Amino acid sequence: MTASATPMHMTGHFAPVPDEIDAVDLPVEGALPPELTGRYLRNGPNPLPGQPSPHWFTGHGMVHGVRLRAGRAEWYRNRWVRTKALAGESMIRPDGTVDRSVGVANTHVIAHAGRIMALVESSFPHVLTPELATVGPCDFDGRLTTAMTAHPKTDPVSGELHFFGYGFAPPFLTYHRLSAAGELVTSAEIAVPGPTMMHDFAITDRHAVFLDLPMTFSLERLRRGMPYGWDDAYGARIGLMPLDRPGEVTWFDVDPAYVFHVGNAATDAAGRVVLDAARYAAADAVAMWDGLGPDPAGPAAAAAASGSARMYRWVLDPAAGTVTETQLDDRRVEFPTVDDERVGRDARYRYAVGRSAVVKFDVTGGAVAEHALGADTVAGEAVFVPSATNGRPAGRAEDDGWLLTITTRKDGSASQLLVLDATDVAGPPVAAVTLPRGVPSGFHGSWIPDAEPELS
Ligand SMILES: [Fe+2]
Repeated sequence: MTASATPMHMTGHFAPVPDEIDAVDLPVEGALPPELTGRYLRNGPNPLPGQPSPHWFTGHGMVHGVRLRAGRAEWYRNRWVRTKALAGESMIRPDGTVDRSVGVANTHVIAHAGRIMALVESSFPHVLTPELATVGPCDFDGRLTTAMTAHPKTDPVSGELHFFGYGFAPPFLTYHRLSAAGELVTSAEIAVPGPTMMHDFAITDRHAVFLDLPMTFSLERLRRGMPYGWDDAYGARIGLMPLDRPGEVTWFDVDPAYVFHVGNAATDAAGRVVLDAARYAAADAVAMWDGLGPDPAGPAAAAAASGSARMYRWVLDPAAGTVTETQLDDRRVEFPTVDDERVGRDARYRYAVGRSAVVKFDVTGGAVAEHALGADTVAGEAVFVPSATNGRPAGRAEDDGWLLTITTRKDGSASQLLVLDATDVAGPPVAAVTLPRGVPSGFHGSWIPDAEPELS
């Protein structure tokens, strides 16, 4: 492979690391808040050495972990998720059916009911130990028969985990719910016109919100390494499913666009659903997808792929059957996040990643703050950690806490775990932990406090 033919996702700040390492007692600038005691875990694609993946999204999952305790950064380690795919097995059985226990587990890592799970939307979750060893795929005692999205949502009041699975063969879309204790208690098929790539969804206190958008499956694309692509003919719809009527979805037609990532959703005082997400307009979606694709990508494609979505808001009125759409801000951002304790509830702040910046949106007042990193540095998803994370005092301001992000240098030099004060995002970092290597730009992660049951 010549340099000019090297795909974007194998070079620069995306370039995979060749091995697994451990380091202890990491150098810290500033002061780590002692109450940040737990683990920050982040997942992303990392092809094996000598085996480049055809698409950024299909590399084997690798989890990078940083252990913080009592003001110290005790360790960093990185581990591939030991999937059957890593061992060379194919998801497609000889009879053409899909084995969901095989998958690259490269997109997210979460904790629920005492389980740490590495997620990818094509497969079952893979359970990890707190030390990042792989236990294996999990189908919840045989009850999960579809893939599991990498973007499940935990209801902050009930503790239930809502999610869905999609596939290219029927059932194209299935809703699922785990109890707070981690048992799969509900599954319901949802009728959609065809197989689309449904990356994320939202919940409110009473609805699940589905995004049926024109990124459709085709066998022709599958032969080129990524089976989903933009489809002008499919249309675009947002669906509301009452959580007490699984499978019953009311759809609202919207302008064709693509969304990887939802910021949040909530029910307003009039009973309408307010959904915020990072939205790619049709032309941006096509350019972004081309930039990410398996073909050799030049600087223009890399720029397109580095983020051309903007924060949008849809207001869906179940009583009137209407939907409105508003652009919230002109900045190009991705990876929107919200305080986990406000998922599905009214929330004032969204955090996101811009070009070499962490961005905080006040969606009520309209203010925007940026933490600029410099043009040679790329921010990863910014995860909000509430203050007093090991005990939750009443009356905490929504942004009283920290943002954790792993930064990646375009020249491959050492990454940092930045700890920003979420009330003062533009200010200097509270702390910066220097990691022992450059961590490739990846996807999503979680802060897992030691208070999480059975994980410490
Ligand atoms: Fe994602």
